[in-house]
Amino acid sequence: MKDKLDQLRQEFLQDLQQVHNQTTLHELELKFLSRKGALSKMLHSLKELDLSARQQFGKLANNLKIELQNKFTEKEATLNINQTHSQNIDPTLPGFNFPQGHFNPITLMQNKLEDLFTSLGFMVLDGPELESEYFNFTALNIPASHPARDMQDTFYIDYPNEHQEYDLLMRTQTSPMQIRAMQKYGAPLRAIIPGRCFRNEATDSRHEHTFYQLEGIVIDKKINFAHLKSFLEIVGQEMFGAKTKLRMRPKFFPFVEPGNNGEYTCFLCQGKGCRVCKYTGWLEIVGAGLVHPRVLEAGGIDPKIYSGLAFGFGLNRLAMLKYNIDDVRLFNSGDLRFLEQF
Ligand code: PHE
Repeated sequence: MKDKLDQLRQEFLQDLQQVHNQTTLHELELKFLSRKGALSKMLHSLKELDLSARQQFGKLANNLKIELQNKFTEKEATLNINQTHSQNIDPTLPGFNFPQGHFNPITLMQNKLEDLFTSLGFMVLDGPELESEYFNFTALNIPASHPARDMQDTFYIDYPNEHQEYDLLMRTQTSPMQIRAMQKYGAPLRAIIPGRCFRNEATDSRHEHTFYQLEGIVIDKKINFAHLKSFLEIVGQEMFGAKTKLRMRPKFFPFVEPGNNGEYTCFLCQGKGCRVCKYTGWLEIVGAGLVHPRVLEAGGIDPKIYSGLAFGFGLNRLAMLKYNIDDVRLFNSGDLRFLEQF
């Protein structure tokens, strides 16, 4: 029996040397390793031996089986490698250059401001784009009859809410999150809310129906205009350079009192006057003010104990100024020629 095993081994090794391609490899497999191959037959024939012989040779036969199978897989592997080489692959050619993704310039602005404000102890919150009239207007001190509702051309949603009221709309500003943040976290509070807003605009190079704002709110005891001024100054210097100056001019927003427009010295001409600042030396960047007592109340905060400040940046406008972009529609266009520049 041992001779038979040795013979089988010899025969296999001889045949193996002759294997140079897949066909002969397959023939070898059929002859020795398949179900009806020589090895199987040999293992079968062990049954005819008596118990002690079966134990002795069974072990040898099994070792042989493992050896032959290993040799076979080794051969198979070398054949595969050679085959790949012979398929005319030139491993010295340079690899493919996969294009890298780009951040939208609005995302770049948002990231920069998030870094700044988190370093000042602000939370970054997210809010719903599908809002209710209550949060978008009413709670922000803009009652139904107020003309300020007309200032923002709103996309109303023709679908009832869970109370069967038609009060859904696409948020026109991130300010409704002032109320939601106050209701959820109470006072004291420091949060920014970047996000997408929607207005029913006739689009042109300066108007877009879908745009981005970044809202900020701070509530605490004794918050006053000086705090607002200092936050806005920090933002201006971070975005446009250390020499940037801030000018605050009165502007009406129903949810702040007093309200103002924050303007920064034009970073292009340093305030001398140029095309970008329309020869005024100043860039209108941010709406801001001290939170109106009624808005604090709507947020569940007692205006006799706490006061607050709020501001809202248009991220599109910031990015347009920063990167000298002359058409607001490019941001949402998905045009790679535009995006790849950032
Ligand atoms: N929500 C205002 C706008 O869209 C901006 C603003 C935010 C003004 C916060 C004051 C305070 O124009």
